[in-house]
Amino acid sequence: MSLNQQAVHLKHREGAASGTKYIAIASGKGGVGKTILSISIGKCLSDSGKRVLIIDADFGLSNVHLMLGITPKKNLSHFFYGEASFEDTVVQVSDRFSFISSGSGIYELAKLSKDQVLNLVRRLQELAEDNYDYVIFDTPPGIHDDTIAVVSSADFPLIITTPEPTAVADAYALIKIVNKEGQVDTFFLVVNKVESDKEGQKVYESIRLLSERYVSAQIKHVGNIRYRKMLIRKIIEQEPFERGFIGDVYNILSNMELEVKPVKRGFWESIVSRLLRR
Ligand SMILES: Nc1ncnc2c1ncn2[C@@H]1O[C@H](COP(=O)(O)OP(=O)(O)OP(=O)(O)O)[C@@H](O)[C@H]1O
Ligand SMILES: [Mg+2]
Repeated sequence: MSLNQQAVHLKHREGAASGTKYIAIASGKGGVGKTILSISIGKCLSDSGKRVLIIDADFGLSNVHLMLGITPKKNLSHFFYGEASFEDTVVQVSDRFSFISSGSGIYELAKLSKDQVLNLVRRLQELAEDNYDYVIFDTPPGIHDDTIAVVSSADFPLIITTPEPTAVADAYALIKIVNKEGQVDTFFLVVNKVESDKEGQKVYESIRLLSERYVSAQIKHVGNIRYRKMLIRKIIEQEPFERGFIGDVYNILSNMELEVKPVKRGFWESIVSRLLRR
């Protein structure tokens, strides 16, 4: 299939529009809780009867599998090198909950030909639309082109920060760049590791003021997550779901109003045009 034919094929699937919804979790600063939030959202949604796929887009440093205590036998880099079928890279966590580990696969994307990129995107799209209600992207720290593409294309761009000033500054920097480059004007904000809701509210106010004044982006503060001392122990024991943390995540999900899919250009169509542009 030629490049154009493949692009048309993608659009056709898009036209047939499945109800799959895409959530991107990003932060700017590292270590603020993207991965634990991704897998916790995955758990909450799958426990509620939804089918969930996490795509670990954390370059070579992916750690979704470490937190879940599951070592995938194959990842996307095996697929690229012909050492695994695409289906082999999908790892089952529980009945309705799976993840795909990029290994160094996504990192290799920069070196792939356009044909290979399109082929990968098409496989991911088919997998997502045919099997899952929600796809969650756990992104790497820092502000990279791939992260900007994923956050810009997602139905629900979720920015997570902690109250630390450097994390707040990086969250705002990410919002600014995604707003400018990706024309996204609504972001969901979670403040993690707070001591009180008041602390989370203050962080939200500071980001809201900057965003409204300088970038005309709307920030929806969908909740805070308390600092939980026990969480680290649970992660070490590879049983990462702490009851209080999960309670905060259910609250966040109900504030996100996930049943309402925003009217946006299709996720995969948007990703392809962004990836092929560079
Ligand atoms: N609410 C919380 N209470 C206590 N500890 C937390 C909380 N949220 C996250 N942590 C701790 O912070 C650490 C970083 O979390 P996590 O790996 O999810 O962050 P990340 O943003 O994905 O990091 P990276 O940018 O390196 O990918 C974890 O070890 C976890 O134990
Ligand atoms: Mg992470």
